[in-house]
Amino acid sequence: MRLSGKNVLLGVTGSISAYKAAELCRLLVKEGANVKVIMTSAAADFISPLTLSTLSKNKVELHMVNQDYFWNNHVELGLWANLFLIAPISANTIAKMANGISDNLLLTVFLSAKCSTMIAPAMDHDMYLHPATQTNLKILASRNTFIIGPEKGELASGLIGEGRLTEPSQILIEVINFFKNTGKLKDKKILVTAGPTREPIDPVRFISNHSSGKMGVSLATAFVNEGAVVTLVAGPIQLTIPSSIKLISVETADEMYQQCIQLFPDADIAVMAAAVADYTPSNPADIKVKKKQDDLNLLMTKTIDILAECGKIKKAHQLLIGFALETDHELENAKDKLERKNLDLIVLNSLKDEGAGFATDTNKITLIDRNNNIKEFPLKNKNDVAIDIVQKIIELSNE
Ligand SMILES: Cc1cc2nc3c(=O)[nH]c(=O)nc-3n(C[C@H](O)[C@H](O)[C@H](O)COP(=O)(O)O)c2cc1C
Repeated sequence: MRLSGKNVLLGVTGSISAYKAAELCRLLVKEGANVKVIMTSAAADFISPLTLSTLSKNKVELHMVNQDYFWNNHVELGLWANLFLIAPISANTIAKMANGISDNLLLTVFLSAKCSTMIAPAMDHDMYLHPATQTNLKILASRNTFIIGPEKGELASGLIGEGRLTEPSQILIEVINFFKNTGKLKDKKILVTAGPTREPIDPVRFISNHSSGKMGVSLATAFVNEGAVVTLVAGPIQLTIPSSIKLISVETADEMYQQCIQLFPDADIAVMAAAVADYTPSNPADIKVKKKQDDLNLLMTKTIDILAECGKIKKAHQLLIGFALETDHELENAKDKLERKNLDLIVLNSLKDEGAGFATDTNKITLIDRNNNIKEFPLKNKNDVAIDIVQKIIELSNE
């Protein structure tokens, strides 16, 4: 899922190729993008808003004012979007955009949006080559509107020439590349750990914990969305990992340590979100332990503290981030961990907070940085928590 968490506002205008917007919408959603659709009135003559609302799983917006006289806030839609993609875009809408005309919702959003705009023209050969259209496209390009296509080929009019909408699969690639090339952490190397570890007692039993790995996977995804190159070292987890993340699967605390200590020197940023076992059975049995005596004593040995070891070898340009899951004296314990382990940031979550911590879809965090800045966040979905953490890390990396 190469577009996880990205907000794409899909604009559709009155072209015969508007039916292809359905396929484009489906492909964007399949890649994990949150898609909202705005159509012009003309577009709705070519493709039903119901098709696009069903595929985008969101209400489709057409008018500035709803039937119940409620104003559609174009500023909010423009602020929500990470990318405004208009595909197909008609000669008419291109002309209006180039001239700042805003007589429908789509155009008003264009003028107020803060994000980048991509357009994929589709029209008849003659309309496309007309000097007016060519000049309008040049004006938009000079204002940093990305233009995709159009292609040469058979047109709806029966003519063969330039003006054919670029295929949805190719538009999708352009969108993915756009996000790859625009992140605030472009090409930074990030190491993230996630999930629990399993410490063997014998060949069939182990000691583990309830960590699902969701927080680490959400973080890895949020980093990828900022253009970073992410390696995820994960214990046993049951989650789908986007193909843009390099996954290294491990089982035990020691295996996780071996991977991290090798990868950390080459990382710009490391976030240790895994719930690594603190102790491991000292002498795991080679064969299954039989049920004999009433009591069984298990001798345990301390595992290597991965975070502390990375803290010892951390270079000035590197950022090291840890998690603290506390049940008491939360702030005090987290600050102590930050200092002891030479961290730049610690993410504190308290098991006292409902909806926070292990195996939930939500988390409630407090961020404490190396300068003792403390910021508490409300309960949020783990994907949104990951975005908050990544934004803070971007801030720290710019210091
Ligand atoms: C059957 C039909 C197909 C059309 N196809 C296109 C097209 O592919 N590209 C285009 O720029 N205009 C096309 N038009 C003209 C636009 O629909 C027209 O300019 C409309 O005003 C565009 O409105 P909008 O830009 O607000 O969506 C077509 C019109 C009709 C009737």
